[in-house]
Amino acid sequence: MAFPESKLKMLKNITVIALVAFGSPCLGKISSAKPQMGWNTWNTFKSHINQSLIENTASTLVSTGLARAGYEYVVIDEGWQAYTRDANGRQQANSTTFPSGISGVAKYIHKLSLKVGIYSDAGIYDCGFFPGSYGYEELDAKTYASWGVDYLKYDNCGGFQANTLSAQERFTIMGNSLKNSGRDIFYSLCQWGNQFPWFWADQFSDSYRMSGDITSSFAADKSGVCKTAYCLNTGYAGVSVLTMIRKMREISGFQAPGSWADMDMLEIGTGTMTEFEEQTHFSFWAALKSPLIIGADITTISKSSLAILLNKDAIAISQDNAGVAASYLPDLSIEGSVQIWAGPLSTGNSKYVILALNEGQSGVNITIPLNGIFKPENLGARYKARDVWDRKNLGTIESDITLTNVSSHQTKLLVLSRE
Ligand code: GAL
Repeated sequence: MAFPESKLKMLKNITVIALVAFGSPCLGKISSAKPQMGWNTWNTFKSHINQSLIENTASTLVSTGLARAGYEYVVIDEGWQAYTRDANGRQQANSTTFPSGISGVAKYIHKLSLKVGIYSDAGIYDCGFFPGSYGYEELDAKTYASWGVDYLKYDNCGGFQANTLSAQERFTIMGNSLKNSGRDIFYSLCQWGNQFPWFWADQFSDSYRMSGDITSSFAADKSGVCKTAYCLNTGYAGVSVLTMIRKMREISGFQAPGSWADMDMLEIGTGTMTEFEEQTHFSFWAALKSPLIIGADITTISKSSLAILLNKDAIAISQDNAGVAASYLPDLSIEGSVQIWAGPLSTGNSKYVILALNEGQSGVNITIPLNGIFKPENLGARYKARDVWDRKNLGTIESDITLTNVSSHQTKLLVLSRE
């Protein structure tokens, strides 16, 4: 029945929450108790970045209300560096595009009460042939700490030249170096799901990418992209929103506070999707507990995309205390047509999130029987249902709920609370 596999997982999660709440020495970090939220340069700007772009975006996070809604990390992806290390072997910012260096940018960002992220790589080079951190992990971690960096996105290009060590070993060395850096630095792994990090990355990271790169497309993948979690796509893969969701069927049960499977940056506001498609994108990233890292240019973003990123109820689902991701429910879904996912929220037996995605033609009615979702002990009660995107209460339901006239590519995102 519902959540068959995840019952044990839920118990594990509840233990983890308790540990987080009481400041467990093993999980330690408050910063990864909930999926991280922020903005990253890569999806829109690639390597064409500079200090004023970063500072303008940081200010825009504040003026748009995004910062207040929880988007706190400003992450500078590939392209900030000079092509060589300095005389002391340290990575250095490109002095033309970042005249104040990363420490200057960090000061600006910190003044806005936001946090700054930076990018490096577990290889000799990163993907753009800037110096990676392989062999320099301790020095680089200390350098980032001295600059006031709060977040490291650590990539996997050029790792292959360093292949006397496995990805796990190379990524662990940086994890240990960050721990010894003297600063609390959020550690975001980006090795594209290589060697199935959902089994091990929680040992030393705060989040880990579970796939090759997303592309700005709702349904069409770039060629060569495979659909499940266990077939790998590397960086620049070009995975669509729907395929990223498909891959999470195998992974969502691993989500737990402390280290989050990262479905990659949000493509909301990058101009290829309808409003319903962008709502679907956000619904799944929130309910599956992916980090919420905006990839659009927020200085020019449309009102409707901004409203999606700011939806308080959807953000509350992402940041819910339980940290349990919704699961795919095959018995209630029709492959290629309707997907139903659901999961408990922090009050456990009395609050649930349900997602109903229409992949097919517009205008379908979807009926969801509650006995396909709840454990038997939670049946027979009355639940209040709220439609998150329509911002309206749907009344009280007891045994099933019918959603009428659901559009193509639309996801109905519901929160059910026991009366
Ligand atoms: C990829 C990574 C992207 C971006 C890019 C920079 O490997 O998955 O998110 O960081 O490198 O070249």
